Amino acid sequence: MNQTWDTDLYQDAHAFVWQLGQDLIDLLNPQPGEHILDLGCGTGQLTAAIAARGARVQGIDADPAMVAQAQINTPHLTFSTADACTFTLAEPVDAIFSNAVLHWIPTADQVVAQVWAALKPSGRFIAEFGGKGNMGQVLTALAAGRMALGYGPSSATPWYFPSIGEYAQVLEAQGFELQFATLRDRPTPLEGDLGLVNWLTMFAKRFLCDLSPDQQETLFRQMETQLRPQLYQQGQWFADYRRIRILAVKPE
Ligand code: BEZ
Repeated sequence: MNQTWDTDLYQDAHAFVWQLGQDLIDLLNPQPGEHILDLGCGTGQLTAAIAARGARVQGIDADPAMVAQAQINTPHLTFSTADACTFTLAEPVDAIFSNAVLHWIPTADQVVAQVWAALKPSGRFIAEFGGKGNMGQVLTALAAGRMALGYGPSSATPWYFPSIGEYAQVLEAQGFELQFATLRDRPTPLEGDLGLVNWLTMFAKRFLCDLSPDQQETLFRQMETQLRPQLYQQGQWFADYRRIRILAVKPE
């Protein structure tokens, strides 16, 4: 089952996805006049923030609903629908930026090959996404909850959460020079008492779609009970995100 997106829910209850990506723009360090691609732009808030620093920026996203919403949000920028594994650009760009997208694409080598082809020599690739151990406690509780209901772990997880070493191999096999990489815990606040349930409903549909509504309720209550001691603090749920962040350069 492919992930589908509710753009209102993405922009509102999950605004942290782009709000927490703001400081990745500092690592990108866009210069006035540079041509930049936002790969997996979602509803375009970070694309607009890059443009506000004076760069010429365009956004692509695999989901047409996201692209349509991005175009409504920022009509003066250019957005289009394209797959990160197959996209091509009319002209190579100075930098490619990607926030909270690459963990959805297990074929990382295909993405990196397209990024390489779309960059000028000396072009930069700046990305942040889920790294090794991302959502470890939530995913363990999800598997346990499904098991208690008599269901297996469902089909293979749709996500790619590499270590720095694994991702460095993919980048270097393509020819990139990896100049900066970090992997760090980034507990991420989820809005309201239903924060955990909203996260699951938005991002983990694949693990819910074979359960009846009653079974889903049972699963949510069990997960909340199991995770509350670690992931609920002072009235707030936190997702146990771990972020890998990289800056790689295509040599001249
Ligand atoms: C993440 O942003 O780390 C993430 C989002 C949805 C599913 C899995 C991970």
